[in-house]
Amino acid sequence: LFQSLFQGGKHKTGPNLHGLFGRKTGQAPGFSYTEANKNKGITWGPDTLWIYLENPKKYIPGTKMVFAGLKKKTERADLIAYLKEATSS
Ligand code: HEM
Repeated sequence: LFQSLFQGGKHKTGPNLHGLFGRKTGQAPGFSYTEANKNKGITWGPDTLWIYLENPKKYIPGTKMVFAGLKKKTERADLIAYLKEATSS
């Protein structure tokens, strides 16, 4: 997971998330996304991640991401704060 947050990190099962905030869905270069993820068409930020990470399959039906989501608001808030830090610059 951690390698996938930094610039130049490899894609693993999921895409490298470096530069995620402010970017549209499905744009990490060289990662093979589902059409569902690519075509969602929203911009990733605290607001959209808040909804997505509660229940990824509900927000993006047809995604291949195997992650149940975080139901607890405190956990989701912590994760998004961490992601913002870890995926920028
Ligand atoms: C802390 C947990 C996780 C976070 C924050 C996270 C975040 C994300 C985000 C934001 C995307 C969309 C990226 C984009 O549109 O560029 C994504 C996609 C994806 N993630 Fe995760 N993810 C997590 C856990 C996982 C896990 C556990 C797996 C699998 C082992 C996984 C596999 C994937 C895959 C395969 C995609 C592409 C989905 C598709 O093309 O349909 N993720 N993830």
